[in-house]
Amino acid sequence: MKKPVNGFSKLSKSEKIAWLAENHFSNKKEGVEILKKYWNADEKLQLLHDEFIENTISNFYLPLGIAPNFSINGKSYTIPMAIEESSVVAAAGKAAKYWSERGGFKAEVLSTEKVGQIHFIYKGDKEKLRDFFKNVKSTIDKATASITQNMRNRGGGIKNIELKDKTAELEDYFQLHCTFETLDAMGANFINTCLEKIAETFKEEAQKNTVFSAEEKDIQIVMSILSNYVPNCLVRAEVSCKVDELNGDKDISPMEFAEKFVRAVAIANAEPFRAVTHNKGIMNGIDAVVLATGNDFRAIEAGAHAYASKSGQYRSLTHAAIEGDTFRFWIEIPLALGTVGGLTRLHPLVKLSLEMLGNPSAKNLMEITAVAGLAQNFAAVRSLITDGIQKGHMKMHLVNILNQLGATNDEKKHIINIFKNKTVTHSSVIEEFNKLRTQK
Ligand code: MEV
Repeated sequence: MKKPVNGFSKLSKSEKIAWLAENHFSNKKEGVEILKKYWNADEKLQLLHDEFIENTISNFYLPLGIAPNFSINGKSYTIPMAIEESSVVAAAGKAAKYWSERGGFKAEVLSTEKVGQIHFIYKGDKEKLRDFFKNVKSTIDKATASITQNMRNRGGGIKNIELKDKTAELEDYFQLHCTFETLDAMGANFINTCLEKIAETFKEEAQKNTVFSAEEKDIQIVMSILSNYVPNCLVRAEVSCKVDELNGDKDISPMEFAEKFVRAVAIANAEPFRAVTHNKGIMNGIDAVVLATGNDFRAIEAGAHAYASKSGQYRSLTHAAIEGDTFRFWIEIPLALGTVGGLTRLHPLVKLSLEMLGNPSAKNLMEITAVAGLAQNFAAVRSLITDGIQKGHMKMHLVNILNQLGATNDEKKHIINIFKNKTVTHSSVIEEFNKLRTQK
């Protein structure tokens, strides 16, 4: 076990890199060179990235791709996607084109409520606590007024505070369950600042309360933090068309395709092992847009998967049905996104991504992101129930395999041509590559 390193964050960037190379790289020179290769030549831009986090040593690239041809509520969009998985952007583009020829995507924000909670311990008479809570509300409003003023002026702010008795779950555990409207901001900082002020006021006022006993006055605030579970910050996106209009290009009749598709989604709804992969495919699209637009994909992931479990079993986030002669496919997902604050105006590529989308409001971005998830899921399920996923996936992955082998541009062209009508496997690519090299 190595000795812990003290004061590391105070070292300069080059000192940190030297320490890293000394302690962790087998080839120090090469390791340092690789890190530096990814530095931006524009020093100001590099400094901006350095300062996003602590102990930055380099930049970690992800490709930024675009999926054009999305029609959402009658408007055309080109969607930015930051993702490393070969087939995701191609699949999004395909689904976008497919549905743009069948009426496009419709999307609608159903609700925009954010949540934050103050978790506390109270030992005493519950009735006294309820009375105290009723009386302290106006003091809390006053104490938070300066924090919430800007948000209130624009129609947002703290919407409600509810005292919840959680003692059935955990001894002496209560909470203040607070709801917020944060408009175009994701709102994490706003919510957490409000919560800490509410908690402080709540504790102080309890100490002053003359009805409480000494033990009752001593409310223990355990923590004050927003929740990434936002079941009332919901967006719905959908596509529909006549069954007859489905899938002209596949070797399957439109009705057979529709029925198989609906069954595949029903399986993801019934079976958690499948549901997780099904939803992972949805998140391929959603995370890529969330990242490109400077939002917090961990928060979105956590909230989405919790929502998928809201019935007590983990289920599909999308749904499909045949109603008469119409095929319908839709998603309902909580997405607490922002288009102001955080990285949104700081990261130059995020700014550009938002510009690409017409500088959307948070609600508009919720719709676009839900559509990206639905499109991704459509493309995945469509492949799964027809050609299988590997055909398209491996075609896209072919270039990665060739790059791993160190193929030149000419070699890549030659081998891609060979695999136009042939199944791509890792070993068959190596075989063709070796054949080509020995022919030379
Ligand atoms: C791969 O990243 C995503 C899929 O597995 C999704 C799915 O199975 O629905 C193709």
